[in-house]
Amino acid sequence: MSRRLFVTTALPYANGSFHIGHIMEYIQADIWVRFQRMQGREVHFVCADDAHGAPIMLKAESEGISPKELVDRIAAERPAYLKGFHISFDHWHSTDSPENVELSQDVYRKLRAAGLIATRTIEQFYDPVKGMFLPDRYIKGECPKCGAKDQFGDSCEVCGAVYAPTELKQPYSTLTGATPVMRESEHFFFKLSDPRCVAFLREWALEGRLQPEVANKAREWLEGSTDTAGERSSGLADWDISRDAPYFGIPIPDAPGKYFYVWLDAPIGYLASLKAHCARRGLDFNAFIAPDADVEQVHFIGKDIIYFHTLFWPAMLKFAGYKVPDRVNVHGFITVSGEKMSKSRGTGISPLRYLELGMNPEWLRYYLAAKLNARVEDVDFNPDDFVARVNADLVGKLVNIASRCAGFLVKRFDGALAGLDHGAHEGFAKPWAGPEAVATLYEQREFGKALREIMQFADAVNQYVDSERPWDLAKDPARTADLHRCCSTALRAFRDLSLLLAPVMPEMAERVREFMNLPAADWAALATPLPEGHRINAYQHLMTRVDPKQLDALFEAPAAAASTASSSAAAPAKNSKAGAGSASAAAPGPAPASATDGETIDIQTFAQVDLRIAKIVSAEHVAGSDKLLKLSLDLGEGRLRTVFSGIRAHYAPEQLVGRLTVAVANLAPRKMKFGLSEGMVLAASFPDDGGGVFLLEPDSGAQPGMKVR
Ligand code: 2FM
Ligand code: ZN
Repeated sequence: MSRRLFVTTALPYANGSFHIGHIMEYIQADIWVRFQRMQGREVHFVCADDAHGAPIMLKAESEGISPKELVDRIAAERPAYLKGFHISFDHWHSTDSPENVELSQDVYRKLRAAGLIATRTIEQFYDPVKGMFLPDRYIKGECPKCGAKDQFGDSCEVCGAVYAPTELKQPYSTLTGATPVMRESEHFFFKLSDPRCVAFLREWALEGRLQPEVANKAREWLEGSTDTAGERSSGLADWDISRDAPYFGIPIPDAPGKYFYVWLDAPIGYLASLKAHCARRGLDFNAFIAPDADVEQVHFIGKDIIYFHTLFWPAMLKFAGYKVPDRVNVHGFITVSGEKMSKSRGTGISPLRYLELGMNPEWLRYYLAAKLNARVEDVDFNPDDFVARVNADLVGKLVNIASRCAGFLVKRFDGALAGLDHGAHEGFAKPWAGPEAVATLYEQREFGKALREIMQFADAVNQYVDSERPWDLAKDPARTADLHRCCSTALRAFRDLSLLLAPVMPEMAERVREFMNLPAADWAALATPLPEGHRINAYQHLMTRVDPKQLDALFEAPAAAASTASSSAAAPAKNSKAGAGSASAAAPGPAPASATDGETIDIQTFAQVDLRIAKIVSAEHVAGSDKLLKLSLDLGEGRLRTVFSGIRAHYAPEQLVGRLTVAVANLAPRKMKFGLSEGMVLAASFPDDGGGVFLLEPDSGAQPGMKVR
């Protein structure tokens, strides 16, 4: 019987646009889903916005809008990205929906009936000015270990110590600055420590449905572990599932003023989305969620949320009487040139900018697929590698086959294929593993291996075309039949290549389908070569090469990007003057009539810029950039910062070493093509740099780290 699949990706928080990490996960899941559809399987692929929780409530408040308005605004952005990257969700929903309220309350009632909900009074920090309990991330203070100021409630960014918010010295609420007070409140707990839960999870997590490294993690959590100091941690603790008003969330039944913690209703949002999808399609939702439902439930998630998906989520489903997940497929993070991404800042790659620059989404799909495997490994996006791989594989190998052969077939043979050349056809089968093996690799999410096999097939076809030389055959009237045979053979293989790659490059497959006159992409078609006499249409251009300048533009800072968009005279990728780490803070453009343009700011606004004296410890050229110097700066922090500055045309590196200058210390770090830039140095210039660029330098006596005010 054909498989029925219910597939999800993690629900993104509805407080910001997608970043490249989201898009990578969607691409990974989408490739798998498209492969399954090509196999004739029934797939229901859904996602939703994760709408609840304190951060969304507070962000909306700071913007003076309701949480619902914020969530709606974000939801309205989603389709353009999803369509842009060819992500084929069957439905996109929201956790702030009637379906989710009903399902979350239902799950809770069933857990309560099963005796798995406990109440306990806990003490927590409370902001008396704001009138709300404070999540750890809204409490700051001095590190109890090293005394560093302004550290978060859970760990110190300076010495790395981990502690409870109650241990902070001089704690304050980041919302109001008030000193928080301890207050009691009754909380609801899901009794994960109950022997029934532990026994179930042991079986569920350890019976082969998880990747080995994920199962190991789950085992550690379930059994408890011994740390290097020999200290033993016990197994599962009960899970606090309630939050007090004010909270943007789902009310807990029979408990006025109490809401479900966002992480309770978030995964239930998978079911809410499926339910809405079923309603639209006239499908029976219960046939998906009954404990014995004949459905494979597959979740794609990142490695940071394994705990929720391998412990809380299956236990919640099990004891509420629902079907439990069959697989949780965990991927690593995306890094850029080896640097880690921050969840809030993302990487230097903005998916929206990628699309705005007109970059082909299938370049990214192919590049990421080539790097993805079934393990929990990080995937590195390297701009040079991206250009090289996409151009070599997709344009140099793949498209090249069709572009070299299709024209002859159409012009000389009315587009009709010659009979099958069995020898050549069978020869192509040898250098690679074949469609069945590739199918297995797709199924196992070994996309990198699958693409390597497919590209070996493409290599063989190119070698064949190279040796047959259709362009020479075309000149010799005596060899017309050979020309026909050669082009037909190459194009038959090209059809196969496009089918094999269709899960990764659906748009390309669609264009090939049109130009080659083919039925909808279907894996089974690979078993049958195109017949003699099959007619193709005129060749359509299939894909352009990546221009390395597009990568430069992708990594340009937003300010520079905005100025390039508005100044037609500037060469797009080169104008990075106002970027992070560039020498000049002034935006390019005509010189203003007055030095200030009449706009003023108050002193508090100025004080938000943390200007510091910096010593340039080293300076060097950046390979591949004619604009940038790479500076190592000492800001008196006990470590050096790297800053990329656009002053290469104005200073030789050796002129700078040892000099003091002024740096913006609190500029958000920015991933650039060449690495992370952690600030910016200041220089003076006119907007068009006429008259030169001059690095600021303090009077003698200033020390690294001194504040400029
Ligand atoms: O970590 C996150 O971004 C969460 N919004 C993921 C939720 S996944 C699921 F449980 F909803
Ligand atoms: Zn510390």
